[in-house]
Amino acid sequence: MVARVIPVDPFDLVIFGGTGDLARRKIVPGLYRRFRDGQMPPEARIIAAARSEIDRGAFRQFAAEAVEEFVPQDRRDARSISDFLDRLEYVKVDIHGSEGWPELAALIRPDVVRAFYFSVAPGLFGDLARRLHAHDIADGDCRVVVEKPFGNDLATARALNATLAEHFSEGQVYRIDHYLGKETVQNLMAVRFANILFEPLWNAQYVDHVQITVAETVGVAGRGAYYDEAGAMRDMVQNHLMQLLCLIAMEPPFRFEPDAVRDEKLKVIRALDPVEPRDIVRGQYRAGNGCASYAEDVGNDDSLTESFIALRVHVANWRWKGTPFYLRTGKRLRARASEIAVTFREPPHSIFGEGEGWKENVLVIRLQPNEGMKLRVMIKEPGPGGMRLKDVPLDMSFAEALGEHGADIPDAYERLIMDVIRGNQTLFMRGDEVEAAWAWTDPVVAEWQAREDRPEPYDAGSSGPEDALMLMHRDGRRWREISP
Ligand code: BG6
Repeated sequence: MVARVIPVDPFDLVIFGGTGDLARRKIVPGLYRRFRDGQMPPEARIIAAARSEIDRGAFRQFAAEAVEEFVPQDRRDARSISDFLDRLEYVKVDIHGSEGWPELAALIRPDVVRAFYFSVAPGLFGDLARRLHAHDIADGDCRVVVEKPFGNDLATARALNATLAEHFSEGQVYRIDHYLGKETVQNLMAVRFANILFEPLWNAQYVDHVQITVAETVGVAGRGAYYDEAGAMRDMVQNHLMQLLCLIAMEPPFRFEPDAVRDEKLKVIRALDPVEPRDIVRGQYRAGNGCASYAEDVGNDDSLTESFIALRVHVANWRWKGTPFYLRTGKRLRARASEIAVTFREPPHSIFGEGEGWKENVLVIRLQPNEGMKLRVMIKEPGPGGMRLKDVPLDMSFAEALGEHGADIPDAYERLIMDVIRGNQTLFMRGDEVEAAWAWTDPVVAEWQAREDRPEPYDAGSSGPEDALMLMHRDGRRWREISP
């Protein structure tokens, strides 16, 4: 099966912070892959704007190295790399001064799609926006892309939204949550809304509980300063896990259109109950399995920041009243595994009697790695000996099911940047959505800050703190194992 690639319109994409880490790891390699697949028209141009004292040649060298490092060998070739590099420009700009802006203005073409990627610290957004306007580079048609962290609480997020709103309309602002660009995350919507099978059961009457797990093996070394301020709640739950929760819990949007989808997600966030302190477990990894401790990684022995969090939350609406959602994420866990598991209730009456090996139906949507879907169903155990039940998985790996096409799952950034050029905001967060997510997060963080809550230590390479198990045990439930 060959993927159908629809080329986008000609564009100028300016990446502020174009020589930074995100550009190197994600943006440039992602753009190259879209170029190689034929999605980028020959007139497309990528202009890096940064403060580094380098020229166009040096930036191309930087981009060539990024492609080599982050695009697998069988997905790149010398010819297309060279053609791709021809599309790159570099301008040295001073965000706080006037240097470089006239040169940038001269480069931008008025008759193509213009997008500005703010891959810089949020504190610089205001200055950037002001200079773009002062030099007549940005107008009412252009698009701006901003990265997380989008604020670190409601007040800072509001301030950022206000700064952007001074210069751009909401329809021009693309707030990235890269989880929304992941193929399997988009698949949540396809599974729910393109099949009749699940929707009738998708409510508290039939769903016992939902588990959302994003487990990582990496630690926080190298980004300790940011992470120690943020912690797992603000780094992962407020955005990525919240988005997953929204896609699972939301009502069907009337159409797959930006505001229709985002309106439904916003309703979920607004319906979230406040989380009780007893429904949260925070953890911090200690040294183990050859890894340094969190405190060593961030260089702060007294840190009270969590590198793991598990919590139980309710969506207080008609559909979900009585179905808890359990969220869990952490660094330095035993495996990298992200999945959503929807556990269904028992059949109303068992004709087979008690204790015949019955287990609940569970639908597991595996986000990464080994993307796929698994449904636990009960069958009769073969052979004589009466009616004994056995659970078996209906197991679908997307890579196998989709053949060659399935093996080439695009990176989230590829999809998202092309959506910016196409002008499709469906997979981007709206300002009110981000603010609602912070409004739910803030009291939780404030509560443990007020009582100087100390996270529970857990061994690096383990499944997280013991108390996280208790969070479910006391409800008579269990976490699924974190396995690769
Ligand atoms: C980022 C977080 O947004 O997402 C990181 O800041 C985290 O802490 C990363 O490691 C996880 O993304 P992925 O795509 O590797 O699951």
